[in-house]
Amino acid sequence: MECFEVTGGTALTGRVRVTGAKNSALKLMAAALLASGRTTIEEVPDILDVAIMSEVLRRLGCDVTYERYSLGGGGGRVVVDVPAEPGTETDYDLVRKMRASISVLGPLVARCGSARVALPGGDAIGSRGLDMHISGLERLGATIESEHGFLVATAPRLRGTSIWLDFPSVGATENLVMAAVLAEGTTVIDNAAREPEIADLCEMLAAMGARIEGAGTSTITVDGVPELKPVTCTTVPDRIVAGTWAIGAVMTRGDVVIERAVPDHLTVALAKLADAGAHIEPVEDGLRVAMDGRPRCVDVVTLPYPGFPTDLQPMAVALAAVSTGTALITENVFEGRFMFVNELVRLGASVRIDGHHAVVRGRERLSSAPVLATDIRAGAGLVLAGLVSDGVTEVQDVHHVDRGYPDFVEQLRGLGAQIERIHRPD
Ligand code: UD1
Repeated sequence: MECFEVTGGTALTGRVRVTGAKNSALKLMAAALLASGRTTIEEVPDILDVAIMSEVLRRLGCDVTYERYSLGGGGGRVVVDVPAEPGTETDYDLVRKMRASISVLGPLVARCGSARVALPGGDAIGSRGLDMHISGLERLGATIESEHGFLVATAPRLRGTSIWLDFPSVGATENLVMAAVLAEGTTVIDNAAREPEIADLCEMLAAMGARIEGAGTSTITVDGVPELKPVTCTTVPDRIVAGTWAIGAVMTRGDVVIERAVPDHLTVALAKLADAGAHIEPVEDGLRVAMDGRPRCVDVVTLPYPGFPTDLQPMAVALAAVSTGTALITENVFEGRFMFVNELVRLGASVRIDGHHAVVRGRERLSSAPVLATDIRAGAGLVLAGLVSDGVTEVQDVHHVDRGYPDFVEQLRGLGAQIERIHRPD
């Protein structure tokens, strides 16, 4: 078992470089399936999920290489060489490890006319249905059946249509755009997700020859084309990693320059940090976040982009736990996302959960204890809490954190944090 030992009491100070977003890079890699030949993707984070997606693509017959950059930040270059006739099946062992494997469904059915992708099942932050992925693909003319734990999609040729999503699902929007780019005719996706990662994917698809309008808005229009070509593209910087460093700077009363952070992608989160008393300024190569004194509690409501990101909610709860006053944190995206709060309470935080609301009463300091990372973002939130706890906090099950944060320990140490990765016998 791998753990982080976090010694509290040091302010985060210095510079940190943010590489590309996990939630974009994984989809750009899936999108490579839409064209045969070599696609190159820059600024791909060196994380476990990228290794899993590489394996998904290899089992579909692609040749995938990862070359890490020598500069800091944990980024690198992925080259995906896609055969003329890729395989069409993704097994449960990979989908179970990473739900984002489901994003090969759209490209495969569009390009190959069929796909067999294992059903992911539930995970620690909620049930995470696939109904919008399925009904959208069915609207595009695919036949979808569930057999022996697999989703089996077939469509000799997809046809453009209009699709209305019940909720602006990130994954469903991406899968449907990737299917629609090779469909016959025009597809209009209404109530589409607007995340910067969707705009990034659409930018790559456009460079491949797709015809897309409205990326980054809630109505995306796709005119299908018969064929796409491989390209070279660069992943959008990771706003969740950048937001984690920003909240870490505020919690520890530090001063951090977050290189490559895009303030426009974090508008609501930065406004909340400013309300908490932080000094925030855009600098030439990113963003500076500094804090004097103890932050004030601010209420937070998670919503699809451009709202406050659900992926920063655990850090927002951790921040409130050491701020003055009381904060109401409302989770609207994943119903199970407050599960980690029990761990934060072990550190002495005062949090009461009522449905999808958490009432957090700030404390001067937290008190170290062994805690369990239940998912990627919860793990990062617990590490930040460890940085403001008395004594040494052991965060267990950190393989979750490794799924989303490249060089997490090294980056934190670079900012002055006292943190070590240790191996414990099971
Ligand atoms: C992506 C991100 C994740 C982020 C989330 C919301 C990746 C790899 N992950 O996840 O980090 O927290 O967006 O910003 O990009 N839902 C359904 N039916 C569907 C699809 C979704 O009910 O067909 C529900 C989910 O259960 C969830 C909500 O919609 O409650 C949002 O899910 P979605 O936006 O699809 O998130 P993901 O793409 O899974």
